Amino acid sequence: MEATQPTPKKTLYSAIQPSGSITLGNYLGALRNFVLLAEDYDCLFCMADLHALTVRQEPAALRRNTQSLAALYIACGLDPEKSLIYCQSHVPEHAELAWILNCFTYMGELSRMTQFKDKSAKHADNINAGLFAYPALMAADILLYQTHLVPVGADQKQHLELTRDIATRMNSLYPGLFVVPEAYIPKTSARIMSLSDPTRKMSKSDAEDSYIAVLDAPDVIRKKFRRAVTDSETEIRYDPENKPGVSNLLSILSAIKGTTPEAEAEGLRGLQYGALKEATSEAVVAALAPIQERYQTLMGDKEYISNILKTNAERAHYLAQKTLRKVYKKLGLYQV
Ligand code: TRP
Repeated sequence: MEATQPTPKKTLYSAIQPSGSITLGNYLGALRNFVLLAEDYDCLFCMADLHALTVRQEPAALRRNTQSLAALYIACGLDPEKSLIYCQSHVPEHAELAWILNCFTYMGELSRMTQFKDKSAKHADNINAGLFAYPALMAADILLYQTHLVPVGADQKQHLELTRDIATRMNSLYPGLFVVPEAYIPKTSARIMSLSDPTRKMSKSDAEDSYIAVLDAPDVIRKKFRRAVTDSETEIRYDPENKPGVSNLLSILSAIKGTTPEAEAEGLRGLQYGALKEATSEAVVAALAPIQERYQTLMGDKEYISNILKTNAERAHYLAQKTLRKVYKKLGLYQV
């Protein structure tokens, strides 16, 4: 009853850090599906620039990456008038609610987060309080909009669980404060693996040859696929356990064509791995071409991007303010 919704549609929230390339894995596993989700839900797609600050960023690069991510969201087909595409730091309520949530999150909980442990190992010279409190800011992103659904990959599942724990804890102290969000697990979602180590997820933080960036030029894409790790057999067969490299290529190919990896294996039966690599890279090049073209056009119109982000920050701010006021009031912060 309490958490009022602006419309009967459920709210879905997702964010990406503007800290580098968007990979083919991000596109096939997430972004591409967002376009469909935007039909059924009130969607917010955020550029989590405050989260990016938990590791050192070069200011000019951060600025460029944020703008680029906004253009890419739109180039992938998201409609910034329908969905809310906005920048986290443009909406001050994120940082404000994060502070409150910090006061309801235990040190023990935060120290158990595997991402914190991984990142502190990786950035041993900069284990800052922001890195530690990162999940509370993420919880603020989500809870601020009374979100019902959050599409999460395996790496963010623990953070969403913590968000649910914080929301439940606060709801039991202050009934009706937050909608408790759930993980949105897409019915069909491609899990794309690294090209150089197909037993690991494709990641922008690994070596450049191991991932395809959505903005890679066609020749770069072809070269990366030619170098992709396969195996010492010759049979094109979908068998992720025993043939992770070949299976990954089949997954990519089928994800793009909307078929199944088994069907693609069947279609390429008797051919050599080179043929599989070529089919896959051509399919990827063709799928990314229209996105890259729209992206270039958008990046040529910085004013359009700025205007979109300004308008959307205002829309987000309006929604966020509603929740934050409610929180302040319920917690007993003196209102005048
Ligand atoms: N932590 C997420 C990541 O690195 C990004 C993120 C920030 C996010 N806030 C969020 C994802 C809220 C979902 C919901 O991938």
